[in-house]
Amino acid sequence: MKILGIETSCDETAAAVVEDGRFLLSNVVSSQVDIHRRYGGVVPELASRQHVLEVMPIVSMALEEAGATLEDIEAVAVTHGPGLAGALVVGVNAAKGLALALDLPLVGVNHLEGHVYAAWLDAAPHDHELGFPLLCLIASGGHTDLLIMEGHGRYRLLGRTRDDAAGEAFDKAARLLGLGFPGGPEIQRVAEGVNGAERLPRAWLRGSHDFSFSGLKTALLHKAQAAFLYPPGERGRETDDAAVRELAAAFQDSVVDVLAAKTLAAAAEHGARGVVLGGGVTANALLRATIRARAGLPVIIPAPRLCTDNGAMVAACAHFHLSRGRESALDLEVDPSLTLG
Ligand code: KG4
Ligand code: ZN
Repeated sequence: MKILGIETSCDETAAAVVEDGRFLLSNVVSSQVDIHRRYGGVVPELASRQHVLEVMPIVSMALEEAGATLEDIEAVAVTHGPGLAGALVVGVNAAKGLALALDLPLVGVNHLEGHVYAAWLDAAPHDHELGFPLLCLIASGGHTDLLIMEGHGRYRLLGRTRDDAAGEAFDKAARLLGLGFPGGPEIQRVAEGVNGAERLPRAWLRGSHDFSFSGLKTALLHKAQAAFLYPPGERGRETDDAAVRELAAAFQDSVVDVLAAKTLAAAAEHGARGVVLGGGVTANALLRATIRARAGLPVIIPAPRLCTDNGAMVAACAHFHLSRGRESALDLEVDPSLTLG
């Protein structure tokens, strides 16, 4: 079964064709970072307008890359939350139009569940090889959630961030260090090869599966001030590249240490048979390597381009909804604060 997946929840306009929930026939992502970069973050109104311009051309590209036409598509899937309301509406309306015109099932997908289902795409092991329960860490620009997945479509939320999401923390830290947007890839880039002497604190929140990253941000600010780095680029104050790299590495070490340790502790506590990572932050090379090195159980981490927002994860997720007979009505609404578990 070929499903068209559409994703417009934030600043990526994306569409993909996925067969049987696993096989990637195409995956087209148009990032708006060049538009939002000068503002240092995503501007919702600009995001919606860009989605309007791009969504149908991106759908056409996804079909073309898959060697398919609209007649080959058997269902239309779309992210309907969480995300930016105006951005979500664009994708949902496009998907409704296609489903109505082609008389196909429409499947509204929870973006967070989509990130989980990226693990089922392509080279990932089959779920019968893995077995439930799975421990899922979803770490993105808006979320840092630890969930137990008891079966397809069955989740229990174990913990979440109490303040900033991990990706948001990366983005804020990068801004504070005078680095570009989005911050995660920038911090990873400048931290590479740094054998850090610098160390920043970790918020363990012992006895809980929750996270907190705002204290780390404040600690970073104080260190940056002490190193004469702040405000970055101020006249007469030279930014010390070596100090920036040290602090970026210390920040990344702290976030990765906490994410890895708390994920694996939750997996052990709940008898998970495997760990699944998803969301933009799980594209981070140090996080991927650290979890793989420390885990004593199978770990599935999608390829980096499937960790960040994409349409393939939406289509993959929809396949498992449809196989349980779950589709959406044509009056599907967006839900900007939709949760999982
Ligand atoms: O999942 P995603 O693409 O969009 C949301 O659903 O939010 O995640 C975007 C977030 C951004 O905060 C970005 O800085 C972060 O993921 N990110 C990374 C890396 N690549 C993207 N964080 C750390 N290391 C990376 N390599
Ligand atoms: Zn996302």
